[in-house]
Amino acid sequence: MAIKIKTPEEIELIRKSCELLSKTLAEVAKAVRAGTNGIKLDKLAEQFIKDHGGHPSFKGYNRYPASLCISVNDEVVHGIPTVEAYKDGDIISCDCGVFMNGYHGDMAYTFGIGNVKPEVLELMRVTKESLYLGIEQATAGKRTGDIGFAVQDYCERKHPYKCVRELVGHGIGKTLHEDPQVPNYGRKGDGQKLPENCTIAIEPMVNLGKRDVYTKRDNWTIATQDGSQSVHFEHTVLVKPLKAEILSSFEWIEQAVKENKELVKI
Ligand code: MF3
Ligand code: CO
Repeated sequence: MAIKIKTPEEIELIRKSCELLSKTLAEVAKAVRAGTNGIKLDKLAEQFIKDHGGHPSFKGYNRYPASLCISVNDEVVHGIPTVEAYKDGDIISCDCGVFMNGYHGDMAYTFGIGNVKPEVLELMRVTKESLYLGIEQATAGKRTGDIGFAVQDYCERKHPYKCVRELVGHGIGKTLHEDPQVPNYGRKGDGQKLPENCTIAIEPMVNLGKRDVYTKRDNWTIATQDGSQSVHFEHTVLVKPLKAEILSSFEWIEQAVKENKELVKI
């Protein structure tokens, strides 16, 4: 399928969805701590989105039952929120989507609670850095393989981690998942060419151990086969000739992380 190019009006609407989404994850960041659980965070996120005129993109998508995907420790993505209490040292990946005025935004952030092991903190840092290296490649005329290469090269060759291959980033707009697919591995010059003013979600999922994953019995949660920790960061970005514009923002989230004494700053 062809990659959709967005008009300036459409871009503004995606930007608005991403703004509400970024503020929603900042609200979540204020509430993450040992002792709370996914159900509580999910309710909070859903209420915040609805109070501000949006709809949670994920709820009902392929019958997904929640507004957040919350993936804990060895869970990679698509974790369904549960009542299980978080513990000191857990890493909590929160993935969320907002649909407003006909357009989606999609982003994810991984939080660390309290005494996260140094090697896991390093995995968090490197995964976030790999997202920004991928975004650097998201300029008009480049290909999805340039993004995948940048992410994989940094995580797998410059660091000892593994990128998950079964799940990919994606175009985003009127629908949550559009062309192109944006893998977190690949070769420079491979894949679809990115036109100016297309919008894509880039979302490295990176494991401390092996890259293999499996789907849990709930038919949603993806987890590492070897039980190693996995980290996920995601931004929605606008492809431009010289430099991609990041439409979602970690600024409010990171301000909230700084002020939340229960979380580690990476
Ligand atoms: N955030 C996921 C993505 O980036 C989508 C979650 S799938 C859902 O593609 F079913 F939970 F919505
Ligand atoms: Co996504």
